[in-house]
Amino acid sequence: MNDQIKTSGKPLLQALAGGPADRIPVWLMRQAGRYLPEYREIRAGVGDFLELCFTPELAAEVTLQPMRRFGMDGAILFSDILVVPHALGQSLAYVDGEGPKLEPIRNSEAVACLSGDRVDQVLSPVYETVRRVRADLPPSSALIGFAGAPWTVACYMVEGGGSKDFAEVKRFAYRDPDGFGQLIGLLVQSSITYLRGQIDAGVEAVQLFDSWAGVLSERAFDRWVIDPTAEIVKALRQSHPATPIIGFPRGAGLMYQRYLGRTGIDALGLDTTVPMEVARTLQNSVPVQGNLDPVALMVGGDALRAAARDILVGLGDGPFVFNLGHGVLQHTPPENVATLVGIIRDWPEDR
Ligand code: CP3
Repeated sequence: MNDQIKTSGKPLLQALAGGPADRIPVWLMRQAGRYLPEYREIRAGVGDFLELCFTPELAAEVTLQPMRRFGMDGAILFSDILVVPHALGQSLAYVDGEGPKLEPIRNSEAVACLSGDRVDQVLSPVYETVRRVRADLPPSSALIGFAGAPWTVACYMVEGGGSKDFAEVKRFAYRDPDGFGQLIGLLVQSSITYLRGQIDAGVEAVQLFDSWAGVLSERAFDRWVIDPTAEIVKALRQSHPATPIIGFPRGAGLMYQRYLGRTGIDALGLDTTVPMEVARTLQNSVPVQGNLDPVALMVGGDALRAAARDILVGLGDGPFVFNLGHGVLQHTPPENVATLVGIIRDWPEDR
């Protein structure tokens, strides 16, 4: 149990502190977004996605939409991991149907053109969103802030968008580890600034999304995933010891245990591929969160029930936060999310 964490009678914070919770808390990665008609309506009324992220009134509304519909235990701040490269001065656009496009940073000269000086200023609308959501949040729900972990954000910055093989970002890291290390260092510092800003504005827990942690060799994983994460955790512990930090090294497979041991995170987000036996071993040292297959949620019906039950049976008795193993998919019927929350609320069913 971590008694530094103030749980305020909120099940999500109780679970993240490792103690008994009033009920099994649930929230879902990407719980706000295009699968919700009320999101699509707001999205259609703004020019681009960044404008939505930087308009506090609308971002707060979108954050609260899934709370109203489903009564989740956690609201995840509506923003994106790529607002940090934007704040560092990299040009960024979200192209409909194609995802984010950035002007690639592929050498140390390009890294030198970025600056962390304006992070708080550029991201201040996000802090305002946090204040607004906190004021409107139901008392038993907690507000979760987030940042992309440095490796994952660097993947987008160097590739210039999504990638299948991560050849460019790996090439930079192998050819010029010091130059790439400068980029990672800048991301460590700006993530610390950004997360401190979110916590000071009112978020009650934070998650580090390392969506591409699973593509690295052992040595690279230590240097680009574990070390930067450990640095962020250490800095936040010093300034904000009462705020739990969830690490989500998606796809880390056999490195999950090492990530847990060396980063100092408070809770571990598990992706869909983590086997129950491994999840339970990890849960012996730290609260775990996960790991329903988003496709089972999209399909619904018996497949959803069976998959949700497996997780509740396996992990529901320890410190646990119900979530997906990755984000809600765009074509997920909202009714299936309601069904899932119902299954969790009714647990344990008569067995
Ligand atoms: O509900 C929530 O989870 C809160 C908001 C949130 C978004 N993105 C909103 C979003 C969060 C936590 C993220 C995290 C994020 N963003 C990650 C890490 C998690 C993961 O999915 O692996 C990553 C890698 C990104 C980068 C990103 N943003 C991509 C690759 C894309 C395009 C692909 C897509 O799904 O559209 C985005 C855009 C984005 N971020 C949208 C939303 C709702 C869709 C944009 C739109 O509405 O037009």
